[in-house]
Amino acid sequence: MVTDVLFNLPAVEGRELDYVQEAIRGGHPASGGEFARRAAEVLAADAGSAEALMTTSCTAALELSAMLLDLQPGDTVIVPSFTFTSTALAFARQGAGLVFCDIEPRTLGIDPAHLATLMDEHVRAVVIVHYAGVACDVDGIRAVLADWPDVTLVEDNAHGLFGAFRDEPLGSLGRFATLSFHETKNFVCGEGGALLLNDPDDVDRARVLYDKGTNRQAFMLGQVDKYTWQDTGSSFGLADVLAAYLLAQLEVRDTIQAKRKRVHDWYAAALAPHAEELGVQLMHVPEDRTPAHHMYYVLLPHRDRRNDVLELMRKAGVQATFHYQPLHASEAGRAFAAREVECPVAQDVSERLLRLPFHNNLTDADLDRVVATFLEAATTTLPDR
Ligand SMILES: Cc1ncc(COP(=O)(O)O)c(C=O)c1O
Repeated sequence: MVTDVLFNLPAVEGRELDYVQEAIRGGHPASGGEFARRAAEVLAADAGSAEALMTTSCTAALELSAMLLDLQPGDTVIVPSFTFTSTALAFARQGAGLVFCDIEPRTLGIDPAHLATLMDEHVRAVVIVHYAGVACDVDGIRAVLADWPDVTLVEDNAHGLFGAFRDEPLGSLGRFATLSFHETKNFVCGEGGALLLNDPDDVDRARVLYDKGTNRQAFMLGQVDKYTWQDTGSSFGLADVLAAYLLAQLEVRDTIQAKRKRVHDWYAAALAPHAEELGVQLMHVPEDRTPAHHMYYVLLPHRDRRNDVLELMRKAGVQATFHYQPLHASEAGRAFAAREVECPVAQDVSERLLRLPFHNNLTDADLDRVVATFLEAATTTLPDR
């Protein structure tokens, strides 16, 4: 029996099972453990961050960054419309009015030209996403923010760990950067995340908010002789049993990234000769970016045919998919918006985007099958067929 080509399949790539067992048998599987410390060290070293706090998810890391902004009534935060809900939700629940920014069609990251029109004295932060692990137009965004030095740049780097913009690692560009280790990401531990602090001045307070509003970390480091309630906060810490799973994955980062690069390069090479004829726009990686190889997407020419292509592929046993529904047009997006904004590129892309199966261990046969199935579906759904 021929089995489906799965869209995603988290794999054991190194010492995950040994480390998880060690974390459990060691008697301290809660947060603040040795595996979390070692995972945080790897992440902070890669981005050159002052500190990495291991969190229960990327959503939680975004929430912690939103808390650290101390948002006041009337403050707004600019977020892309084309992203996962958490990028926006984390700031909305801390009281920010949301201003949605459109994306540019080359990288599907925030469009600096649109961003420039949205800036005003209410804006406290701009959140960027490096979609698919390809850096957004960082130069363009920096040029806009140069006129607004008090505005905080937050990087939702859920897709971009180990990618780079020129020689700058993704995750090193914002005052705060967040990471995801959800089962759908390159490096996984079920559910997990991290907050990278790139300004040393944020470290002390972030440690308190991270640990239920207490100075427990200062106590653990021997800086105070007891710990007490100091500030707002929540329980953000990643259990060590999950950090153990994650650390094993991070230890084989080169192997995992090489496997994912192979998948990306295979799709890019196999689809390139057919793209023009089918009117399909292939995922683009500008020359000066190191991609993180989180996913592979294409943009189909006809928005009303995308779901037909997906359906044909599913019937042929290939699990392709789509996302995101533009946030500016969603029910909650409208409710949390500080003002109404049009994001036509986000709208258009969300209707034409198709993601191909992408995981570490797709075989040559799987990849051939995905490409053949996609080409067949894209051809038969052309309007004149
Ligand atoms: C851009 C982006 N931000 C945030 C998240 C949320 O990550 P998590 O599931 O770790 O909370 C995701 C999840 O897919 C995402 O794609």
